Amino acid sequence: MLKFPDNFIFGVSTSAYQIEGDNKNSDWWLFEEKGKLPYKSGKATDHWNRYQEDIELLAELKVDMYRFSIEWSRVYPSKDYVNYEALSRYREIVDLLRDHGIEPMITLHHFTNPIWFHELGGWEKRENVDYFIQYVETIANEFPDVKYWLVFNEPIVYMLESYIEGHWPPMKKNLFLAEQVAANMAYAYAKAYEILHDLGKVSIAKNMIYFEPYSDKDKDIEACRKAEQMFNWSFIDGILTGRLKVIRKEYDVPKSELDFIGLNYYTGMKVKYTLNPLRLHLDVEPIKTEKCTLMGYCIYPRGLYEVLKKTWNKYGKEIIITENGVAVEDDEDRILSIVRHLQYTHKALTEGISVNGYFYWSILDNFEWDRGYDKRFGLVEVDYTTFKRKPRKSFYVYKEIIKNKAIPDDLLEKYGENIS
Ligand code: BGC
Repeated sequence: MLKFPDNFIFGVSTSAYQIEGDNKNSDWWLFEEKGKLPYKSGKATDHWNRYQEDIELLAELKVDMYRFSIEWSRVYPSKDYVNYEALSRYREIVDLLRDHGIEPMITLHHFTNPIWFHELGGWEKRENVDYFIQYVETIANEFPDVKYWLVFNEPIVYMLESYIEGHWPPMKKNLFLAEQVAANMAYAYAKAYEILHDLGKVSIAKNMIYFEPYSDKDKDIEACRKAEQMFNWSFIDGILTGRLKVIRKEYDVPKSELDFIGLNYYTGMKVKYTLNPLRLHLDVEPIKTEKCTLMGYCIYPRGLYEVLKKTWNKYGKEIIITENGVAVEDDEDRILSIVRHLQYTHKALTEGISVNGYFYWSILDNFEWDRGYDKRFGLVEVDYTTFKRKPRKSFYVYKEIIKNKAIPDDLLEKYGENIS
């Protein structure tokens, strides 16, 4: 069996907007109501009311840590008003987790913003960062006992979806604003770090894709390098060096630190050079494997090992896999995915890469942004009419792995990959 170190963290992740329901003060809600988004989040999984039941599930799974986000728009429904009732619910969640021996990891921003913040120009304006910092201070005061913090979930994905592709609020397509937004988020990160670092370890959850050139032509190799720099490294480089360049423009941002690297990994892509400047001369397509997911990408566990290695070689910092998961029809494929990604995590460990945790996305089926409710990532199935939770086989398999801090031989035999 493949044994993990005793202090290896097994966890699961969620985000507030995707599970809580009725986040009516959020910019996503506003855009849903205006009919600009294809799906409505509505009650989501109704976690806001069913948190106790969901924490029972986490306790049964016996995760070491649970990553969740606080919905800024719940805590600050308007600019100058703190909703202490909402804060005390989050407090209760943290306390209940601790009662079960589960450590919380808190994300402060997972794609959504309060409506008032959006109306003030959101992340486009440097002066608005002060509002975010005020929120960070409020949360830090309320949770001085929390040891793991993620200031942003996937800032580059936010920038791309919200300001380049225009699929997510505020649904703009503007390269200039996109870069401004990334710079303001890097600036906010540095300020938040100063506040949170006194409490514990601080980082971001950075989505990393394994990129591979489409061919051995120089242009494809160069396009691949560019995609990797832009998507995987630019934001981290910006935080660590004080110079942020995502696409074109270079910004001065306050130099800061990451106490570990939160790494979200889902898949691999091939990169091809294209003449189209609107696509930044880059064409990407999924690396095809025998198992593809409902999200349109394929399960490529080796890519996780490759990005762990590259991230470690580049930064030499502790890494925690803050998300990895699949939306699949057949739960057997979810088990296969978990086992194989963990096999490659283990391989990285044996090669001296400091990867200290793995969080499955997600404990529950949930609201998958502009892709709605049929993209089911959960270890636990949610019935969206009754809100009944039903653990899948993968829940029990992951539980077994967590209990042993190892992948047992029978699982390796049935689901594992022959890796060298
Ligand atoms: C995001 C999650 C999302 C997941 C699956 C991640 O990039 O952080 O919010 O649900 O991907 O698509």
